[in-house]
Amino acid sequence: MRRVVCPGSFDPITNGHLDIIGRSARLYDEVTVAVLINVEKSSLFTVDERIEMLQTVTKELPNVKVRKFHGLLVDFCRNNDIPAIVKGIRVVSDFDYELQMAQLNYRLSGVETLFMPTNPEYSFLSSSRVKEIARYGGDVSGLVPDLVHKLLIERLRG
Ligand code: PNS
Repeated sequence: MRRVVCPGSFDPITNGHLDIIGRSARLYDEVTVAVLINVEKSSLFTVDERIEMLQTVTKELPNVKVRKFHGLLVDFCRNNDIPAIVKGIRVVSDFDYELQMAQLNYRLSGVETLFMPTNPEYSFLSSSRVKEIARYGGDVSGLVPDLVHKLLIERLRG
């Protein structure tokens, strides 16, 4: 069984994340989407809300499962017998940051990191930008799955 993990905060999931998850699911037998529980960072959606959104938008992908984790990603990988991490790279500055993390993770555990170039359609996209645009009434349809769009509007505009 060839397994990989797609880790992140997913607050909320964007179409860019979904593209990476879908492409990973075509390459690997099992993809675990791992949502970081980060008590130090304030979030718009709770971890459980994010998990529910992820489960709904990946329900057509039978080899994708969604889990949460805290602590080190490499410990999550070790505990779940996952030998590799997939990370999407949007722009060169992502690579600078991700390379350091990949090398550290390898040094800590031997867990590999595979970089997947983001679909150019989404290379400008991030959860933070999506939240900012939605907060000020901008249109984020097409940038996030429809369900996430609806929940974002509900959450931000009461
Ligand atoms: O979506 P994000 O916030 O960019 O995801 C970052 C994430 C969750 C992949 C990263 O912060 C992470 O792996 N955190 C777990 C803590 C950890 O393992 N840190 C050591 C990295 S060398």
